[in-house]
Amino acid sequence: MIQNILTGIKCTGTPHIGNYLGAIKPAIERADKDANSFYFMANYHALNQITDAKELQQSVKEIACTWLACGLDPKKTVFYRQSDIPEIFELATILSNFTAKGLLDRAHAYKAAVQDGRDVNMGLYNYPVLMAADIILFDTNFVPVGADQKQHIEIAADIVKAFNAIYGKVLVVPEPLIKKEVATIPGLDGRKMSKSYGNTISLFANEDELLKCIKRITTDSSAPTDPKPTDHLIFQLYRHFANCELENRIGWGEAKQKLFEVMNAALKPMRERYEQLMKTAELENIFEDGTKRAREVARTTLDRVRKAIGVI
Ligand code: ADP
Ligand code: TRP
Repeated sequence: MIQNILTGIKCTGTPHIGNYLGAIKPAIERADKDANSFYFMANYHALNQITDAKELQQSVKEIACTWLACGLDPKKTVFYRQSDIPEIFELATILSNFTAKGLLDRAHAYKAAVQDGRDVNMGLYNYPVLMAADIILFDTNFVPVGADQKQHIEIAADIVKAFNAIYGKVLVVPEPLIKKEVATIPGLDGRKMSKSYGNTISLFANEDELLKCIKRITTDSSAPTDPKPTDHLIFQLYRHFANCELENRIGWGEAKQKLFEVMNAALKPMRERYEQLMKTAELENIFEDGTKRAREVARTTLDRVRKAIGVI
């Protein structure tokens, strides 16, 4: 059976290697197989972090051009901006009635904000409901993401089950699609690579920046002839970009140089495409087509839900 695959990227900042290996690359590979794919720019999800209009627009553009530069074909994949699909927001309102408060109290991002003493707004608190609406609206079977998003997909699945328990099998239960080898790519300091930690390698950094970044990767003081831990970021990234192992008795300096060479060779053509797209891509035309196709599916699902709950 043809499966529906859907994923989104929150529009905060510039995509990094973790986003690429954990979400973008697996999603594009999956779209090439027997699947209906729906990939989108989650710009409303960014609103509790970014309140500068230009910055938000710039991030949407960078993320859209990243998907295209990495090989997404907008004719095959339904490619759209979240804010262009009003059905998502109606569904979110409906779904919030089937979302236990305890479910949101346990959400990692909310809990972390409370623990750090940060102000919490309802955008952050309701984030999982909006994300559930993104997913459920497209009868999604699988969601390619990194491990950090697993809880969000589980919450979406719980919401579907609560809804279906009342109205019957109206909604599809989504499942995360997490590739073990890329579930959590570490950052320069060994923690999860994340924009929030400032430890990222930007996907399309130019050659000088890429080399500088790689040189900043934390290593230990072992001698060149000592065997190195092969789960270290340098070895992991080498494996992903070279499709083979880096020899393990090697000095860190030489290992970094080798990593730079394989990463640069793999990323260069995509970086060039990205730079070109940032100058010339007709994004509005692409989004217009994506919106049309996305809303056809969205309206069908939403009508099914509206009928089930009794508003039509
Ligand atoms: P960030 O944590 O940098 O803000 P996002 O939340 O925008 O990243 O993540 C976008 C997508 O990239 C999500 O599917 C997420 O799971 C994936 N992702 C982010 N960081 C990593 C990582 N270090 N390893 C694997 N996947 C990641
Ligand atoms: N929460 C995801 C992130 O932080 C973005 C996102 C929003 C998403 N809606 C989604 C991912 C639906 C997968 C499916 O990047």
